[in-house]
Amino acid sequence: MSKVLVAYFSHSGKTRKVANMIASELQADCFEIEPIREYPDDESQCIEVARVEYNGNVRPALRGGLPDMDQYDTLVIGFPNWHDTCPMAVLTFLEGYDLTGKTVYPFVTHEGSGPDGSNKNMQKACKGADVKPARDGNRLEAKDVKSWIA
Ligand SMILES: Cc1cc2nc3c(=O)[nH]c(=O)nc-3n(C[C@H](O)[C@H](O)[C@H](O)COP(=O)(O)O)c2cc1C
Repeated sequence: MSKVLVAYFSHSGKTRKVANMIASELQADCFEIEPIREYPDDESQCIEVARVEYNGNVRPALRGGLPDMDQYDTLVIGFPNWHDTCPMAVLTFLEGYDLTGKTVYPFVTHEGSGPDGSNKNMQKACKGADVKPARDGNRLEAKDVKSWIA
């Protein structure tokens, strides 16, 4: 199998758990995307900050030490559904790379809206990559990982 990076953003830990499970199943490297400005712990405050970023099409700056993507040909990218798409920090991360020729597998945790709302943004942010439809991170089990990332 090709070399895989699992990268994720998680605010309250649910996506982190799924990302770690995927990385362990695939014995892949795992990287957490961390914006310099942390989001408020309080959910309603976080929703407000995220809404301002979304409405302004902001790309929040990320902490350094980003992975060298040339080492990988497959990227699994995980994030929570925020306002029916991805958190803007995920776009900062993806747009910082030339992903031409790579395969991208998004997965999304959520509270009912499902994963599909991010598909358009994933296609736009990963130019030149083969971007698979986003998978429902709430339902992904360890036994499904290897057949998903074939
Ligand atoms: C700013 C914000 C916006 C959200 N918007 C949605 C949404 O539109 N639809 C949905 O189902 N869940 C929404 N949620 C819930 C999260 O997607 C859900 O709790 C997710 O699994 C959390 O993942 P995490 O623990 O990795 O941060 C939102 C949460 C936050 C903080």
